[in-house]
Amino acid sequence: MASERERLVATAVFLASLITQSEGIIGGREAAPHSRPYMASIQAPEGQNLKHECGGFVVAQQWVMTAAHCLPTGPNGRRVVLGVHSLSEPEDTKQTFDIVEHHNHPHFSPSNYENDIALIKLDRPFNVSEAVQAVAFLRAGGTNPGTGAEVDTAGWGSLDNLGSRPDKLKEVAVEVFSSARCKRGDYFGRKFTDNMICAHKVCSDPCDQPHKKEDSCDGDSGGPLLYNHVVVGITSNGGKKCGQLKKPGIYTIVSHYTEWIHSIMGLQPTAAPGQRPSG
Ligand SMILES: *[C@@H]1O[C@H](CO)[C@@H](O)[C@H](O)[C@H]1NC(C)=O
Repeated sequence: MASERERLVATAVFLASLITQSEGIIGGREAAPHSRPYMASIQAPEGQNLKHECGGFVVAQQWVMTAAHCLPTGPNGRRVVLGVHSLSEPEDTKQTFDIVEHHNHPHFSPSNYENDIALIKLDRPFNVSEAVQAVAFLRAGGTNPGTGAEVDTAGWGSLDNLGSRPDKLKEVAVEVFSSARCKRGDYFGRKFTDNMICAHKVCSDPCDQPHKKEDSCDGDSGGPLLYNHVVVGITSNGGKKCGQLKKPGIYTIVSHYTEWIHSIMGLQPTAAPGQRPSG
């Protein structure tokens, strides 16, 4: 009897280790639970349930920033969940909201994902907790990361190009590529504009998995790109193929949209260092 039970336990441990090893945002790792309390999961109704579709991040009491391509035709019953670590498990940190206002950037271009930025107003203010807090984002005049800078991103996006999704939040450190490189014909060519950052971790340690490049991926869209804990970008991508050497992730440069963000959220323009007064 005992040996039978031992064999069952050994099998269970083995299966669990297989499942753990197959997890990873392409090449990333599981985030410490609620270590990124600004993360939002934007979920679409699917039958009786809600299904994670895009990331986002809390920027103010009732506002979540995301990518415009996440809600191309408006909210359509989507909801926003804050305080999430595991998408499937009931967590008492979770707070769920309806969307009362949705603003895609008026010049969002579906052909090259130019101006891929959106703001969502929640139906009520969130309760601040260890698991739910707003994050700072870079304003005009602030310093964006230069070529080679290490930045990081997080999401519940695909683990591979087959569409398998993680249940728990993943994070990955990536490196900023030069714009000149991403404008090359063998990268993105003219589709890559000055409102975009591209970033990729070409080689991780250990560097022995040629098909497992670290990158953000499908389902990570709308999530934040952070530089020294401040949001500088929104995961935009567009590409369905993730983790390819010549297709780094593309992120919308948030500081280029300061005026639009302030006008939507009803903030007074602030005089950031180096910012010329507008109007
Ligand atoms: C915040 O907490 C109060 C009191 O516990 C609760 O009634 C309310 O629904 C909470 N708000 C949200 C957004 O979950």
